Amino acid sequence: MIKVLIVCLGNICRSPMGEAILKDIAKKRGLDIFVDSCGTGGYHIGEDPDERTVAICKKHNVPISCKARQIDTADFTNFTHILAADESNLRDLMRKRPPNATADIRLWGSYLDNKPIPDPYYDSLNGFEKVFQQCTRLSCVFLDSVVGEEATE
Ligand code: 4NP
Repeated sequence: MIKVLIVCLGNICRSPMGEAILKDIAKKRGLDIFVDSCGTGGYHIGEDPDERTVAICKKHNVPISCKARQIDTADFTNFTHILAADESNLRDLMRKRPPNATADIRLWGSYLDNKPIPDPYYDSLNGFEKVFQQCTRLSCVFLDSVVGEEATE
């Protein structure tokens, strides 16, 4: 089974939104995959997603539910795909990766244009809308690439 972990810094803005969108698109395509998210940092452990992330998901009718958590050693073997929001997140993941890691660890944008998902934390609501649109595009290309056209509706 495909198990995807989306990773950003705080697990309150980008990765919870990415998790919600990837789950929603997979469901609409009739795909049974497991999706979770976490942060490389531990500053927001146990917190709900940022209210701007929740507002944008609500606007687009995408259900979102997440309690912030930090990456754990077991994630590197429990997940098949670990997708980093930006290069800094990717570097941190590579540093934390245990020798027995089995997950494919990549920049999420590597499936499309190699662009990072910019941190919207100090941005306006418009920054969060842009993250939403980017996560939507990235979810589609990820599913096209990993699951294949034949498995989609
Ligand atoms: P995220 O955004 O990594 O997309 O969840 C951030 C959330 C919090 C902080 C930075 C980025 N922070 O510095 O607290």
